[in-house]
Amino acid sequence: MMRVDIITLLPELLESPFGASIIKRAQDKGHLQIYLHNLRDFSDNKHRNVDDYQYGGGAGMVIRVEPISKAIESLQNERAYDEIIYMTPDGELLEQTTCNQLSLAENILILCGHYKGIDERIRELYITKEISIGSYVLSGGELAASILVDAVVRLIPGVLNDETSALTDSFQDGLLAPPVYTRPPEFKGLKVPQVLLSGNPKEVDAWREVQALQKTKTKRPDLLKD
Ligand code: ADE
Repeated sequence: MMRVDIITLLPELLESPFGASIIKRAQDKGHLQIYLHNLRDFSDNKHRNVDDYQYGGGAGMVIRVEPISKAIESLQNERAYDEIIYMTPDGELLEQTTCNQLSLAENILILCGHYKGIDERIRELYITKEISIGSYVLSGGELAASILVDAVVRLIPGVLNDETSALTDSFQDGLLAPPVYTRPPEFKGLKVPQVLLSGNPKEVDAWREVQALQKTKTKRPDLLKD
């Protein structure tokens, strides 16, 4: 059973992605528990504010240390976390290898930022991993966190029905996945490759390998560099 705690200013943004499809089924089947924590609940004032102007001036508010610290420490008092992750565009780019590693964790804590960011001291004190889902800026870390959780949860053993299906994903062997087909054998003049209808598993495997390599060469040559 994996436990994921998420500290956020917008819990409602995360409810729908976690309430459908594989992530929902993983929770229903007892592989996963997700807890959303509203950062405002840890505010120290009656307006439930958690942000302030930045030292040195400049546009944009910064989330203050105290509420985040309080939220993180109250969770840490209950259990030890394998990783405390901050979703941020200046983090390490999310890759399948990181997802594979995280799928083995027991307790993960994810912090979603907003505004101009969070006080740097939070990163120094608590954050063990900073993750970006791509070189672009989102309005907040929530959508990025939902992507991270999705990519990790489907790798937890038993979550997918066909356990081999995650193993044949794109990226698992460093290559993009080969094309797939289903019925009908011909559509608008386009035929399913004959080898897939041959019933010869060795030939099928060989064809898929060649296709995966070709596709990767064309679409993502960067994956083949080493
Ligand atoms: N927060 C804002 N932009 C982000 C990104 N690209 N990745 C992760 N978290 C973010």
